[in-house]
Amino acid sequence: MQQLAAQSEIDFTSQTYKDAYSRINAIVIEGEQQAHENYLKLAELLPEHKDELVGLSKMESRHKKGFEACGRNLQVTPDTEFAQQFFAELHQNFQQAAAEGKVVSCLLIQSLIIECFAIAAYHRYIPVADPFARKITEGVVKDEYTHLNFGEVWLKEHFLEAKAELEQANRQNLPIVWKMLNKVEQDAETLGMEKEALVEDFMIQYSEALSNIGFSNREIVRLSVYGLKAA
Ligand SMILES: [Fe+2]
Ligand SMILES: [Fe+2]
Repeated sequence: MQQLAAQSEIDFTSQTYKDAYSRINAIVIEGEQQAHENYLKLAELLPEHKDELVGLSKMESRHKKGFEACGRNLQVTPDTEFAQQFFAELHQNFQQAAAEGKVVSCLLIQSLIIECFAIAAYHRYIPVADPFARKITEGVVKDEYTHLNFGEVWLKEHFLEAKAELEQANRQNLPIVWKMLNKVEQDAETLGMEKEALVEDFMIQYSEALSNIGFSNREIVRLSVYGLKAA
């Protein structure tokens, strides 16, 4: 009820909304573009899963096109430069891990962190989105669950040998997520999404993923709040 009330108050044509949307929309487009590239890189690193990963990569491209259409529909020009800066740290860490052949770190960054972040954000966005964007986002979020699942299944199968690298990659990358959330707090609020709700949804998805991979409850608590207090 609260979300419905909030949505009816949102003016998708106001300058304030469009200004915030130019950054959030750009982030989403950039995120999908990087996801596309990251799955292609993963396809190189995991040749035995090449077809599946190339398939995921194509889905990300379609998502990107969908969100570009959302921006055009609201007559908003995405702020690409802002979005590239927003993802720079995670992007760099992925690239470096890939260059070192660290598949586990790459999967943690893309299939766990970025997918959980996307699922949380899209889930919170759907109830407050304009009708055009809502339909697109509903289709996209279903796909993101299958991408998260790919990472979970692979990491579960390799849990024992991957565990130490997962913990290390979590320490390196999770604090970046909290920083990213802080950077979009204001704009997300303008679009009708509360930061606390985004954090909560991210935590739920991420802890569940860690649990599915094989971490104990105690380990999950330690891993999933890493760096949160400093943010
Ligand atoms: Fe996507
Ligand atoms: Fe995805």
